[in-house]
Amino acid sequence: MNIQFQHPTAEDGFNVNQLIADSPPLDTNSVYCNLLQCSHFAQTCIIAKEDDQVMGFVSGYRIPDRPEVLFVWQVVVSAKARGQGLAGRMIQALLESDACREVTHIETSITSDNDASWGLFKKLAKKLNAATSETVLFDKEAHFGGQHDSEMLFRIGPFSH
Ligand SMILES: CC(C)(COP(=O)(O)OP(=O)(O)OC[C@H]1O[C@@H](n2cnc3c(N)ncnc32)[C@H](O)[C@@H]1OP(=O)(O)O)[C@@H](O)C(=O)NCCC(=O)NCCS
Repeated sequence: MNIQFQHPTAEDGFNVNQLIADSPPLDTNSVYCNLLQCSHFAQTCIIAKEDDQVMGFVSGYRIPDRPEVLFVWQVVVSAKARGQGLAGRMIQALLESDACREVTHIETSITSDNDASWGLFKKLAKKLNAATSETVLFDKEAHFGGQHDSEMLFRIGPFSH
């Protein structure tokens, strides 16, 4: 596969939205949300394309009052490209980009049943040789009105890169 990584542009937002909609158990977003990620937050997002086809996407941002932390919002890889290290490589590419030069920690949130996501971020922590911690970020009852499983905060760092 000849996959290129780049920061997204607004023209990618709709296709990103479709890929996420096709990738349960990810929560779907409005197209507008993905358009904002692909424009205002483009420098902390990465898109992977083969020719013009979107094969993967990572959305993230530096937490406004803790800019040393890159919050990874969603990671998605097209079903046909999974199991080849693409998700890990997209996050590494993001860490290497200019906007993440001063990032020393990654935070993300994962539901307890998402084995692929736990595996991905634990492998990343090992690669970065960094400590990890797990706490509740958003609770099923307190924050989701009982409608969504609790989102666990997985924190990685400090690390240098
Ligand atoms: C999660 C997802 C992004 C992983 O993409 P990927 O490119 O296949 O992941 P990688 O090949 O980089 O895998 C890295 C590690 O994650 C873990 N992993 C990946 N897929 C896994 C699965 N289905 N089950 C368990 N662990 C898995 C493994 O530890 C893997 O390392 P290994 O191959 O050396 O064992 C992809 O499966 C996906 O898009 N899933 C649907 C959306 C989703 O759940 N996203 C995560 C929430 S943000």
